[in-house]
Amino acid sequence: MRRLEEEKSKPLTDIAKNENLQLQVIDLDVDNDNSVANAIDTIVNERKRIDVLVNNAGYALGGPLEYASMNEIKAQFETNFFGAVRTMQAVLPIMRKQRTGKIVNITSMGGRIAIPLSSFYHGSKFALEGLSESIQYELEPFGIKIILIEPGAVGSNFWRNIKIAKSSSNTNSPYTQLENKVLKAFKKMEENAISPSEVAKAILDSVTSDNPQLRYVVGNDAARMMEVRKNISDTEFGNLIKKQFGI
Ligand SMILES: NC(=O)c1ccc[n+]([C@@H]2O[C@H](COP(=O)([O-])OP(=O)(O)OC[C@H]3O[C@@H](n4cnc5c(N)ncnc54)[C@H](OP(=O)(O)O)[C@@H]3O)[C@@H](O)[C@H]2O)c1
Repeated sequence: MRRLEEEKSKPLTDIAKNENLQLQVIDLDVDNDNSVANAIDTIVNERKRIDVLVNNAGYALGGPLEYASMNEIKAQFETNFFGAVRTMQAVLPIMRKQRTGKIVNITSMGGRIAIPLSSFYHGSKFALEGLSESIQYELEPFGIKIILIEPGAVGSNFWRNIKIAKSSSNTNSPYTQLENKVLKAFKKMEENAISPSEVAKAILDSVTSDNPQLRYVVGNDAARMMEVRKNISDTEFGNLIKKQFGI
């Protein structure tokens, strides 16, 4: 974790202690080259191997495209996309030498379909989907599997951690009406969110499988959306999203 302070790490280490799990928490900020290099070095020095990498760190930046600063947008990609690239580059030499390994990228239903005022988040998740789909071919000869986990709404701190592009709080914003409708729809999504343990179970199933799929859709909302998306045109899907958001 990127903040090792006791109040952050204790809930996790307490669970590990109670359940007799051999869990060790180390310092890792995926935005930072040195932090990633140090974390991977620490693991390799102590354990001599890395079997699984799960790229979970991520957050959403919301707001109209027009109002986000380039720094806000770059920060979104730094964590959600480049953060995952950084950790993958760090573990690949090790997994390649071992001739085995699994890399799990937590993208989202939002890595396959897009909803309003979430363009930066979708951009980062679509990018990670495309990258992952491509690297499966170069990694397969070395016994390394790439897995995408695509949850719908999950009841984590995600919703509280959503960042809104700073200048979109402008009271004269021409997007205010849309923003209010999106916020209302988000509230509903959060209310119907699945437990994070369902995502954890999908990750566990995928990494313990000898022959994992490329993609795992998690949650009924995501499964339904993906199924519908397969069978209708862009226009029909757009109309469905508009209806869902009342726009
Ligand atoms: N919740 C959903 O509805 C949902 C749906 C689809 C996909 N996802 C994806 O699921 C993943 C996990 O999100 P979540 O739902 O568990 O949200 P969350 O409760 O907000 O957790 C996100 C975690 O990422 C960590 N993080 C953020 N930036 C980091 C960085 N630079 N370096 C290291 N750690 C960093 C945060 O650490 P701190 O505690 O230090 O902030 C936090 O522990 C994300 O990739 C998200 O996009 C979530």
